[in-house]
Amino acid sequence: MTERVSEIYIGLMSGTSVDGVDAVVADFSAAPLRRVAAAYLPFPTGLRDELIGLQRAGEDEIHRAALAANALMDRCAEAVATVLTRAQLASKTVAAIGLHGQTVRHRPELAYSVQLANPARLAERTGITVVADFRSRDIAAGGQGAPLVPAFHGVMFGGSRAHRVVVNIGGIANLTDLSPDGTVRGFDTGPGNALLDAWCERHLGQPFDRDGAWAAGGKLLPRLLAELESDRYFALAPPKSTGRDYFNLQWVERHLQSAYSAEDVQRTLVALTARTIAAAARAHCSGATEFLVCGGGANNAMLMRELESSLAPRRVASTAAYGVPVTEVEALAFAWLARETLAGRAGNLPAATGASGPRVLGAIYRA
Ligand SMILES: Nc1ncnc2c1ncn2[C@@H]1O[C@H](COP(=O)(O)OP(=O)(O)O)[C@@H](O)[C@H]1O
Ligand SMILES: [Mg+2]
Repeated sequence: MTERVSEIYIGLMSGTSVDGVDAVVADFSAAPLRRVAAAYLPFPTGLRDELIGLQRAGEDEIHRAALAANALMDRCAEAVATVLTRAQLASKTVAAIGLHGQTVRHRPELAYSVQLANPARLAERTGITVVADFRSRDIAAGGQGAPLVPAFHGVMFGGSRAHRVVVNIGGIANLTDLSPDGTVRGFDTGPGNALLDAWCERHLGQPFDRDGAWAAGGKLLPRLLAELESDRYFALAPPKSTGRDYFNLQWVERHLQSAYSAEDVQRTLVALTARTIAAAARAHCSGATEFLVCGGGANNAMLMRELESSLAPRRVASTAAYGVPVTEVEALAFAWLARETLAGRAGNLPAATGASGPRVLGAIYRA
């Protein structure tokens, strides 16, 4: 009797918002997949602070990064245990985990991008094969190593007669253009939640502005908005990707000339996120009529209103309206990427990353 190959994969995503880890169990035996269970585990404050601290130069970084990676893996192992319990599945039924790790530096122009992880530790903790380090091979092949999710967006939301664009609003925002002729392209548009979160944390001491309520009470600052929108990143032609290395509080502060009220700046940063996404779509996805929004930013009501008005009259809806909860899309993408790697198939999309060709991504740590 031949053993059936498991089609069950786990995706673990911890993105540039540095908020926590999203975990999903997906079964690929039903095309394109069946979502089995999901869980979200926020980072304990100490771990979050350390992961954010490691985004810039500091003392004894190598040691601190190694310890943070270990702590991150322990949180990831908890997330795996939680989703497996919810799915009522044993670890041995899982083919592999797709582990993103935590980006602490993204410098494709210098040919590197660093995701903190210790996949060996996660494999030991879970007893499951782990696929990790998805970005380095694409970068070695001349790509940006990002975004890696467009191919999956194509699998999940492509094939429609409508010209769709998937917009993921994480710390950084990226979009995927799904043309009805089957062409898939994608790139990072710029800041998503990262600036909103950082400004809110500084002035209110809260990790994010829930539903954009604070921003909604502020006034738009047109001069500041114009100044922020004039940043050269927004005018760059794709393929392009960015990170917190570039879009951070220092970037905002460089543009602050007058003594603006903090609330008005928050309001203006919401407009910046929405308008730069809309401008990128107008410039590079002409003819698109349907916008599917995912990532935590889709839960920010103020940001969604702003995005709708920037994209009107095009239809804007969350991916939940298309059957996938907004916080699960990126984690599902990493489950899918792990499966592509185990099958020996390329996971990158050269049209999105700029790599010289398709590449099998990541490294495999066998259970
Ligand atoms: N109710 C909400 N109101 C406003 N912002 C929210 C809400 N829920 C989530 N977010 C935003 O979403 C972020 C998390 O989104 P996520 O998709 O996990 O991003 P990443 O992939 O970068 O980690 C939070 O940091 C916060 O900015
Ligand atoms: Mg997150």
